[in-house]
Amino acid sequence: MRFCFVLGFAAVTSAFYLAEQDEFHFKSWMAQHNKAYSMKEYYQRLQVFTENKKRIDRHNQGNHSFTMGLNQFSDMTFSEFQEAFLLSEPQNCSATKGNYFGSNGPHPDSIDWRKKGNYVTPVKDQGGCGSCWTFSTTGCLESVTAIATGKLVPLSEQQLVDCAQDFNNHGCNGGLPSQAFEYIMYNKGLMTEQDYPYTAMDGICVYKPTMAAAFVKNVMNITAYDEMGMVDAVATHNPVSLAFEVTSDFMHYSQGVYTSTNCHNTTDKVNHAVLAVGYGEENGTPYWIVKNSWGPKWGMDGYFLIHRGKNMCGLAACSSFPVV
Ligand SMILES: *[C@@H]1O[C@H](CO)[C@@H](O)[C@H](O)[C@H]1NC(C)=O
Ligand SMILES: *[C@@H]1O[C@H](CO)[C@@H](O)[C@H](O)[C@H]1NC(C)=O
Ligand SMILES: *[C@@H]1O[C@H](CO)[C@@H](O)[C@H](O)[C@H]1NC(C)=O
Ligand SMILES: *[C@@H]1O[C@H](CO)[C@@H](O)[C@H](O)[C@H]1NC(C)=O
Repeated sequence: MRFCFVLGFAAVTSAFYLAEQDEFHFKSWMAQHNKAYSMKEYYQRLQVFTENKKRIDRHNQGNHSFTMGLNQFSDMTFSEFQEAFLLSEPQNCSATKGNYFGSNGPHPDSIDWRKKGNYVTPVKDQGGCGSCWTFSTTGCLESVTAIATGKLVPLSEQQLVDCAQDFNNHGCNGGLPSQAFEYIMYNKGLMTEQDYPYTAMDGICVYKPTMAAAFVKNVMNITAYDEMGMVDAVATHNPVSLAFEVTSDFMHYSQGVYTSTNCHNTTDKVNHAVLAVGYGEENGTPYWIVKNSWGPKWGMDGYFLIHRGKNMCGLAACSSFPVV
């Protein structure tokens, strides 16, 4: 009897100790990310955070090519995250036959457009709006324009959110870079970030053609699943917009080469658009270097690496870039 009691007591104290530790981690994370909650929400968020942290710790004890870590999303469930940041419905992303025909190489072993010159703008933050596609679009057009003109100018996502509906884009509810390039081409221009600033909300189109700062002459769609075509485009031309499927493990990505068995490799599942700014290989694992739009604190200074050559998470399903 006494034995039981002692054991029970030890279990309670250690559970108490663990809960205290969880709260300690949560509070320091809250301070780091400037979070504040109502009393009721505090306990709910503490629980979600603790589950996420367990998952992260478990992942990091295993043998994986990437590590997970706490970040600004650590108090969210994946469905909340999905709702806030990802494309909610399947996009029309299937250039079954593209108009870009790359060569099979040989290509350089690695390329990083961030290091080749002043060709890539700092990482931006889309906030709580499903506008990833606009950041992938501006990121690509900024780089292509800078490579052509020598001038790197941040361009307007908000113009695409507000004005590009006629090309199957839906503002904060999603769209595709290829369709946004089409909009810019037919609309004859895109304004700068400074002249048409980002609000992370759907708004009324206030595009002023006289203030257009970047233009598109043609849109290059890379044939679906032609990942070698993407390599050729990045090696010989410029960074390339791509879309892929984000699943719950990606939300906690910290560093290393991301791979997943949770995601699909088909066009109908892609839910996030980003920008490939280069590629390389690490310990025999080929990867893409990808610019994200979740701020510079997420991942590797706002970037991530993802396995290259296996159409990982459908990343080769619908890639494109503009010609200026
Ligand atoms: C970890 O995984 C890599 C790649 O799958 C493998 O080569 C290596 O042997 C593994 N290491 C351990 C300690 O299991
Ligand atoms: C896909 O294309 C069809 C036909 O053009 C259009 O009606 C539909 O809204 C598009 N879907 C999305 C998600 O844009
Ligand atoms: C490229 O893709 C866009 C939308 O995904 C499409 O409207 C356009 O016709 C395609 N362009 C070519 C040349 O195939
Ligand atoms: C998708 O994955 C399946 C199963 O691994 C594979 O057989 C198929 O070739 C892949 N399809 C594409 C388009 O990458």
